[in-house]
Amino acid sequence: MTTVNATTAQRCAIWFGLPTPREQALLAAGGWHLRIAGGDARRQVGMRGEDVVVLVADLRGADAARLATLEALLLEHADLPSIALVDGQGDDAPARARIHAHCGRVLHAPFDPEALGTALADLVARPLRDIDSIGGRSPAMLGVRAMLHRYADVDLPVLITGESGTGKELAAHALHELSRRRERPFVAVNCGAIAPTLVQSELFGHERGAFTGATVRRTGLFESADGGTVFLDEIGDLPLEAQTNLLRVLQEGTLERVGSHRPVRVDVRVLAATHVDLEAAIVQGRFREDLYYRLDVLRLRLPPLRERGDDVDLLARQFLDDFRSRHPVQARGFSAAARQCLRAHAWPGNVRELLNRVRRAAVVAEHALIEPDDLQLGASTARVVALDDHRDRTDRDALLAALHATGGNVSACAQRLRISRMTVYRLCRKHGIAPDTCR
Ligand SMILES: Nc1ncnc2c1ncn2[C@@H]1O[C@H](COP(=O)(O)OP(=O)(O)OP(=O)(O)O)[C@@H](O)[C@H]1O
Ligand SMILES: [Mg+2]
Repeated sequence: MTTVNATTAQRCAIWFGLPTPREQALLAAGGWHLRIAGGDARRQVGMRGEDVVVLVADLRGADAARLATLEALLLEHADLPSIALVDGQGDDAPARARIHAHCGRVLHAPFDPEALGTALADLVARPLRDIDSIGGRSPAMLGVRAMLHRYADVDLPVLITGESGTGKELAAHALHELSRRRERPFVAVNCGAIAPTLVQSELFGHERGAFTGATVRRTGLFESADGGTVFLDEIGDLPLEAQTNLLRVLQEGTLERVGSHRPVRVDVRVLAATHVDLEAAIVQGRFREDLYYRLDVLRLRLPPLRERGDDVDLLARQFLDDFRSRHPVQARGFSAAARQCLRAHAWPGNVRELLNRVRRAAVVAEHALIEPDDLQLGASTARVVALDDHRDRTDRDALLAALHATGGNVSACAQRLRISRMTVYRLCRKHGIAPDTCR
């Protein structure tokens, strides 16, 4: 049985004619490698046996001479699936008719550029993977999706940056799903959520008797992800000692379990995400510079929602439809005023905030159309939420930094932050931090 070699197979669209910039962006976002071709299509694309190839005969605005060239090219590559894009204008009707007949699939202009992507995918018999979970058609998000396709099979680390709630974890997952590692585990670790004293054994495992309480040998997350992908979320929170071991995994492909000096070989791809500025953390001595350069080989920036234009509308609609399909609610859409508010809001919490607001509105709305009040998007609430969100993050960052700097000593931490010890305890509870794990 022959199978597609998922490692290297590409999907290629060879375009005879001139795609618009929007068409180019949409194809790239769908993972298509686009070649704009004249003469010998195969040679121009550098096609290999396993590649999935579709020809696009762009007849829009073609004169008789171009039609003749196109027809010849299509005949030369008669074994490849093809599609014609027509605008119903121009002369040489017989030549056009022959091309239509040859191609089988014909799209009439003006067509929705997305219909083109769907039509192309239909033409190739093999199922192709796309990133359905990541919604958005703004130029910024088409760029992100194109990047995900490009990075997926390059076995190098990717550093994913972006504000809170922009979809960093979703992107990491998509990278894994699109890669040849997809049949193997995807292990996501939130580096900030593991007590610093436990990070080493969580990530790299430990031998029996390595420390008090280590009664059995334990396999770490890296070993359990062998052959797959490890996603290190909030990498800026990784303690320095664990950073050293991570560096070793990246450089040598080996790790040592806690309590052992025997190197264990692991084959994992490392993806990392951060919402903090790692360069600033380097300056403060909290992040290893050499690790940073190892991680920052390929970088993917998730744009904040406010840079995604109409995606806000589109995602709101998508989230509502999705919610409606699973819950019996009155709301079916958004009023004009609500849409206006959605557009005007600054979205400090990005896509997660949008998702939560839409879900909430869907539950509380008493009519078919969601109103600004249901979204809690009055002018004043928007600002309060924005500030609170920001303040929480800043509080947590400052608290963690002070606790780490003082070895988890609450009194010293309180002095440093010029707040009472009680406030330190209160903030720790609020942010789920145990001071004694910051030693
Ligand atoms: N483009 C998108 N389309 C659909 N859903 C999205 C999109 N981006 C993010 N989401 C959803 O928004 C939520 C937040 O996404 P995710 O957890 O990936 O963000 P994040 O950047 O990792 O956030 P944080 O910085 O807080 O960890 C998730 O429920 C995710 O499914
Ligand atoms: Mg996340």
